[in-house]
Amino acid sequence: MGRLEGAHILVTGGSRGIGAATVEKARDEGAYVSFVDVLRDEGEHLSDSLGKDVMFREADICSPEALTTALSEFHSAFGPITGLVNNAGRNSYADPVSMTEAEWDDFMSIDLKAAWLVARAVLPDMIARGNGAIVNVASVHATMTYPGFFPYAAAKSGLVGLTRSLALEVGRHQIRVNALSPGYTETALVKEFFELNDPKLRDKVLDVHAMKRMARPAEIANCIAFLLSDEASFVTGANWTVDGGLTARFAG
Ligand SMILES: NC(=O)c1ccc[n+]([C@@H]2O[C@H](COP(=O)([O-])OP(=O)(O)OC[C@H]3O[C@@H](n4cnc5c(N)ncnc54)[C@H](O)[C@@H]3O)[C@@H](O)[C@H]2O)c1
Repeated sequence: MGRLEGAHILVTGGSRGIGAATVEKARDEGAYVSFVDVLRDEGEHLSDSLGKDVMFREADICSPEALTTALSEFHSAFGPITGLVNNAGRNSYADPVSMTEAEWDDFMSIDLKAAWLVARAVLPDMIARGNGAIVNVASVHATMTYPGFFPYAAAKSGLVGLTRSLALEVGRHQIRVNALSPGYTETALVKEFFELNDPKLRDKVLDVHAMKRMARPAEIANCIAFLLSDEASFVTGANWTVDGGLTARFAG
């Protein structure tokens, strides 16, 4: 028996990176898995490769209409969603003086507001069943941050706050809500970050990790699967750091 046998897990941003690893892990643990993303080709390819218990729909998580359509198809295929992974997100490298309000709103709608929108869409079924688990993929930037990343830390700190608030609102229905904060993980997002910086930065970053390496997406997905599962049945309102010891160290 897998630890997610019979569950129906929805993953946002599941076409690649941590999201794709989570889709695969949840399927391996016995769940039906639905996922949305704006990357259609990658999403269809992943879904086709994983078989009939996995379903992909192209949808922008900032669009309540697109979400409603996708969720209704997922519900028809696999029944009510029992676990949600709010994973979709992007980086921001804005200048706090020249950033426009429209750019701020656009970024916050993906990295913060959408987690509430998707939770709002799945919570009625979870409340009716008296059971559910939500994992919000935040970041170590929720507690420490890095210059040139504005306002990513604000969004991810907000996501951890949203996690605490939601956990308190829905806990009495036996719905658990947790954040998981990855450190550096080998994905396209991190590749993009290193490409924008000094080529020597990667070696410096590896050196300050206790484990002298970054995470593989599957290592983050393993912890997400645990938080979704009944093995984490008394874990809620928490923020789990999964960073290979990165934030255990200060400069020097
Ligand atoms: N990689 C890291 O080092 C790292 C560290 C800490 C936190 N995170 C967080 O982990 C999550 C996943 O990151 P990743 O590294 O796998 O990145 P990634 O870019 O490889 O994957 C993110 C996925 O989200 C999708 N997405 C983005 N905006 C979307 C939207 N509006 N609607 C639907 N899908 C959308 C992208 O198309 C992509 O497939 C993000 O929330 C990121 O902030 C990543």
